[in-house]
Amino acid sequence: MAEAKPRIAVVGAGLMGHGIAQVFALAGHDVTITDAIAQSLDTATTRIAANLRELGEDESAVARVTPCADLAAAVREADYVVEAVSEDLPLKQKLFAEIERHVRADTVLASNTSVIPITAIMGGLAHRERALGTHWWNPPFLVPLVEVIETQWTSPQTVAFTMALHQAAGKKPAHVKKDVPGFIGNRLQHALWREAIALVEQGICDAETVDEVIKASFGRRLAVLGPLANADMVGTDLTLAIHNIVLPAIDSRPGSSPYLQKLVAEGKLGFKSGEGFRKWSADEQKTLRSKVMQHLKAARDS
Ligand SMILES: NC(=O)c1ccc[n+]([C@@H]2O[C@H](COP(=O)([O-])OP(=O)(O)OC[C@H]3O[C@@H](n4cnc5c(N)ncnc54)[C@H](O)[C@@H]3O)[C@@H](O)[C@H]2O)c1
Repeated sequence: MAEAKPRIAVVGAGLMGHGIAQVFALAGHDVTITDAIAQSLDTATTRIAANLRELGEDESAVARVTPCADLAAAVREADYVVEAVSEDLPLKQKLFAEIERHVRADTVLASNTSVIPITAIMGGLAHRERALGTHWWNPPFLVPLVEVIETQWTSPQTVAFTMALHQAAGKKPAHVKKDVPGFIGNRLQHALWREAIALVEQGICDAETVDEVIKASFGRRLAVLGPLANADMVGTDLTLAIHNIVLPAIDSRPGSSPYLQKLVAEGKLGFKSGEGFRKWSADEQKTLRSKVMQHLKAARDS
């Protein structure tokens, strides 16, 4: 008989939580999901079913997801608990302390925090060797990467189990060996955003041009050619020569950009206020969101 798949509990049924539950259910795991807000929990399975339908996936997978209003009941039988509640350190610390009271000593505990150090979230646990970070990307069912972040306490068995669990669920897990702010993906992404903002701030081009330059050049290659394979392709000697000229000119201020701070102070918050680096009508926002989803779906199917 085939070995039973680990039972999953997802805490937080918001944007990320319901998508994570969907991925595990589609991979054949029994999943419980819980949320402190009844409306969020009550709509979780409807949202999962709608996603599955939209993606052309097996809709019956939603039957493997059991909403559970009580946290203790949701996690009690789990082999693996992943937390996706609001990005709030005291909330996450309190939640894991509570979860630890209801699970076995070897149940793996993971946080999907975007930026909070895993060490800070898990430091107070009695069994810190079974705790780690798993950083998914939105939408969880279309973006393949999950960064698996170990702390100084995480056991090699916990890392291996979590890597294998995500691999088997069709994700691309990446092992982050040190618990550093931004892990890997967001450090790289925001290094690029810092320079993108600086180019606009210095009057070198406007925001639309920055985005066009990226999309029409190295952005085209990025899905198949990472920067370090690219550096090897052109030669480390050429890369060194380029860096010796370009890096001293690139923005290296340690803090957030004053230009970005000014936008926020002026209430130019992007889509939510209709203007950020650029102006966005409701139609333009809808079109761009839909273009991103179509692109991610096409990438999944290719
Ligand atoms: N949105 C993203 O693109 C993204 C990407 C990667 C990681 N994350 C991280 O994932 C986590 C969740 O983000 P999200 O975008 O899904 O947020 P969200 O606001 O959509 O969902 C959070 C959910 O947590 C619930 N919640 C709050 N307190 C709770 C508690 N005590 N017990 C149970 N449920 C509780 C809320 O009711 C809500 O449904 C955050 O840590 C976030 O930083 C988000």
